[in-house]
Amino acid sequence: MNEKIKERAYAKLNISLDVSKPRGDGYHDMLMVMQAISLCDDLTITLTENGKVSAESNLTYIPGDERNLAVKAAKRYFQMAGLDDQGASIHIQKRIPVGAGMAGGSSDAAAVLRGLNAHFRKLTTAELFQAAEYTGSDVAFCLAGGTALAEGRGEILTHLPALPMCNIVVCKPEFAISTPELFHALDAIKLRRHPDTAGIRQALDNGDLKQVCRRMYNVFEDVPDRRMKVVSEIKKKLIDAGAEGAIMTGTGSAVFGIFTEEKETDAVCKELKKEIAFVCKAKPVGIQHPLP
Ligand code: C5P
Repeated sequence: MNEKIKERAYAKLNISLDVSKPRGDGYHDMLMVMQAISLCDDLTITLTENGKVSAESNLTYIPGDERNLAVKAAKRYFQMAGLDDQGASIHIQKRIPVGAGMAGGSSDAAAVLRGLNAHFRKLTTAELFQAAEYTGSDVAFCLAGGTALAEGRGEILTHLPALPMCNIVVCKPEFAISTPELFHALDAIKLRRHPDTAGIRQALDNGDLKQVCRRMYNVFEDVPDRRMKVVSEIKKKLIDAGAEGAIMTGTGSAVFGIFTEEKETDAVCKELKKEIAFVCKAKPVGIQHPLP
């Protein structure tokens, strides 16, 4: 029997997202407060000795080759660990919506790295985070989990005090928004506003959920794009239903609201499900792996 490793891949939300000017290597420097949430994919990694790595999923359109970050991560792990003949067949039970700004693919990759290193124990924490950084911009945060400040491309991380326990409603409209397209559109405009990242840090230090929520902001919402109208309509519905704050996560198209009362979240989920393709409830989750 081939050995199986099971690991959870938690979705991420942006509590805030700020972007600097393009930095000349095709990327932008970011300043983001990120949060891992209980919505997750389930991974089963079956170890093989044929040196091949592949993935398959309940969503048939997810690629099974290196375009899938989970495959890229496993190959990198085996290479860095000197496990040349090691192979893996990765099954991903996907629940995190695709094209949502919730780092679903990055989180699958991070779960592969966590799972493989828990099993083989070949890489130091610093090496594991190098493998994450190589795999993609959001993979390091997904490896770490919890509540964190992310800088650079997203790979420079500092853990922050945990977001106080709350009820989160996530809505993903049917459309997706292309990440490069949105960065491009952002370069062409003068931003009207930036998130108060220091204020969010202070509110987290104080364990003050309402003050965190009041400061949540994502600069991508400023891009003049007809899809942002849909985003602001969903935000308004969440706020009208009692959310302490609501913003789009990452480059969208998912939008979330944070509630203190569980009762309100059930009612708003029921209402929003009538018109939005994907609606779910989630809670913040804590640190998955310590930082180097
Ligand atoms: O990280 P990911 O591969 O998802 O990024 C896709 C594209 O988004 C990049 O090729 C780049 O054009 C843009 N991007 C950026 N700055 C970042 C992250 C992504 O400009 N920090």
